[in-house]
Amino acid sequence: MPDRTIEALLLEERAFAPPPAFRQSAIARDERVYDQATKDLQGFWARAAEDLHWFAKWRTVLEWTPPNAQWFVGGKTNITYNCVDRHVKAGRRTKAAIIWEGEPGDERVLTYGDLLREVSKFANVLKRLGVKRGDRVTIYLPMIPELPIAMLACARIGAPHTVVFGGFSAEALRDRINDAQAKVLITADGGWRRGNIVPLKRNADDAVAGTPTIEHVVVVRRVGDAAPIHIQEGRDHWWHRLMADASAVCEAEQLDSEDLLYILYTSGTTGKPKGIVHTTGGYMVGTYLTTKWIFDLKDDDVFWCTADIGWVTGHSYIVYGPLANGTTTVMYEGTPDYPDKDRFWAIVEKYRVNIIYTAPTAIRTFMKWGPDYPARRDLSSLRLLGTVGEPINPEAWIWYHKHIGGGRCPVVDTWWQTETGMILITPLPGITTLKPGSATRPFPGVAAEILNEQGKPVGPSEGGYLVLTKPWPAMLRGIYRDPDRYVKQYWSRFPGVYFTGDGAKQDKDGYFWLLGRVDDVINVAGHRIGTYEVESALVDNPAVAEAAVIGVTHEIKGQAIAAFVTLKEGFAAGSEMVETLKQHVVKKIGALARPEQILFTGELPKTRSGKIMRRLLRDIAEGRVLGDTTTLADQTVVQALKQRYEEEAG
Ligand code: PRX
Repeated sequence: MPDRTIEALLLEERAFAPPPAFRQSAIARDERVYDQATKDLQGFWARAAEDLHWFAKWRTVLEWTPPNAQWFVGGKTNITYNCVDRHVKAGRRTKAAIIWEGEPGDERVLTYGDLLREVSKFANVLKRLGVKRGDRVTIYLPMIPELPIAMLACARIGAPHTVVFGGFSAEALRDRINDAQAKVLITADGGWRRGNIVPLKRNADDAVAGTPTIEHVVVVRRVGDAAPIHIQEGRDHWWHRLMADASAVCEAEQLDSEDLLYILYTSGTTGKPKGIVHTTGGYMVGTYLTTKWIFDLKDDDVFWCTADIGWVTGHSYIVYGPLANGTTTVMYEGTPDYPDKDRFWAIVEKYRVNIIYTAPTAIRTFMKWGPDYPARRDLSSLRLLGTVGEPINPEAWIWYHKHIGGGRCPVVDTWWQTETGMILITPLPGITTLKPGSATRPFPGVAAEILNEQGKPVGPSEGGYLVLTKPWPAMLRGIYRDPDRYVKQYWSRFPGVYFTGDGAKQDKDGYFWLLGRVDDVINVAGHRIGTYEVESALVDNPAVAEAAVIGVTHEIKGQAIAAFVTLKEGFAAGSEMVETLKQHVVKKIGALARPEQILFTGELPKTRSGKIMRRLLRDIAEGRVLGDTTTLADQTVVQALKQRYEEEAG
């Protein structure tokens, strides 16, 4: 893959100005918004907030005592009211809110009127199950309409949701439920993936066996007879039965701006996944405005973000941002290669999608499959393309622009994180001249800087640490039930500023080029995984004495997981053990964390103080000349390992 060395990126000189027709009709087309937002940050965000409905207006736009921000203080609102009721009241009752396509080819269109009815009914169901304002609800569902309905129903009554990606294992689900102390779990009998069934209810049963707080499990019937499940009387309830006699009237709670909206778990450098906390008002305003400006949303647009709602991208840019704008948002249940490799393009053609937002790893996969697949389909409805999740290599950008966008659609490369809640570094497609591979510049009002080790700003084209120096409305408010870790993780590397964990550089024009994570987080196909989590999963196996996990460059996934493992006395290395350990990681975390390579070693290279030298492991795995080895306790370990690795690799 992707050569993301600073040197290679500096050679990138292609530039794409906004096409004149696009610029003329763009929602954000006046360069002055940047200055205005910098000069009056609060006024800028207050103007965006005024587009939305507030039961009571805020007293103060921002209260900022680093690292704690409060936005729209004193305001009373409800994000579901803004995403649904507001549009019904404005005459959009019959407009499509969600267009859903199931993997087997079934389809459902929910108008704003339908969505209001379904969400209100499910909100009443939750109340009947004893869910009160402030109670947490875990959602473990495939990509089906009941997922956004459940989220919006929670938000309607002020019960924070915590969505767990359907690819996580039973154990991972259990840990997340327990951290959130959720009262209710919403799941499905199964989900479809490449024609196979994902056994969600079975995983849920295993998880709930170890979750003292879960009182009720609501089960959506998705795959039906294809996967019979066990229903535990009293605890488990079919969604459709509960909905059958639920009232369709449920007033939206008048919530405080800073009331908890959701918790979403993400990987960090140490310990268990962190529950990232997002609150109501600021998140609503941040996702509303970024969706509108960055994707240049027009009234009749059909917008498709291909992410799974189990990740933040789906929360902000399938559900909340698009619906806050009254857009038609597309949801697809399955994979891009089922039944054939043109599935995405068939969906674009069928629903006349205008804006598509996907990930570099998907684009690289499409490149590998070749341009004939998109060429089979009519993609003329597309007007704008977006990418997110990892650095995009310029060649993938150019391919996307040419073969999907027909050379006419701007590409917005959007940088952000679970923690940031909204896109922070991005082009505005009617204003910004694009450079392939660069996320360009901070969104108006966002203050990003690049610092060196000592915390001083670096010069043009020098690499450094990406930080954010001013608050933004959708920023995380903390780590659930762990305030110390919040400070330590984000605000201590450089006191008083938010540390992203990413490396970046700015070119002579001030454009930002993201260089990937600089901490022990790996980005596998746009999914964030902590090396520590995979190591813990490995050493949990009785055969393993010690494990070190690193990310290695991968042509399609960006990065893949490589593990160096020391076995305990009496256990034999070999291909069977490799399989056992891979399966063990899948069981502990989920298939997304399955190591690509496992290499057994008698010893791991360590410093004299006993720290594993991952840098050397990375050099070995990437076939580079070994860096400085002078601090190693035993020089021979690393040489032997390098030799072994080279033999096994090839
Ligand atoms: O390393 C950055 C990378 O993804 C990380 C955030 O991952 P997550 O919280 O799972 O959220 C992913 C989707 C918002 C970042 O720290 N990343 C995300 N977008 C980009 C990116 N790296 C480069 N360019 C991007 N556009």
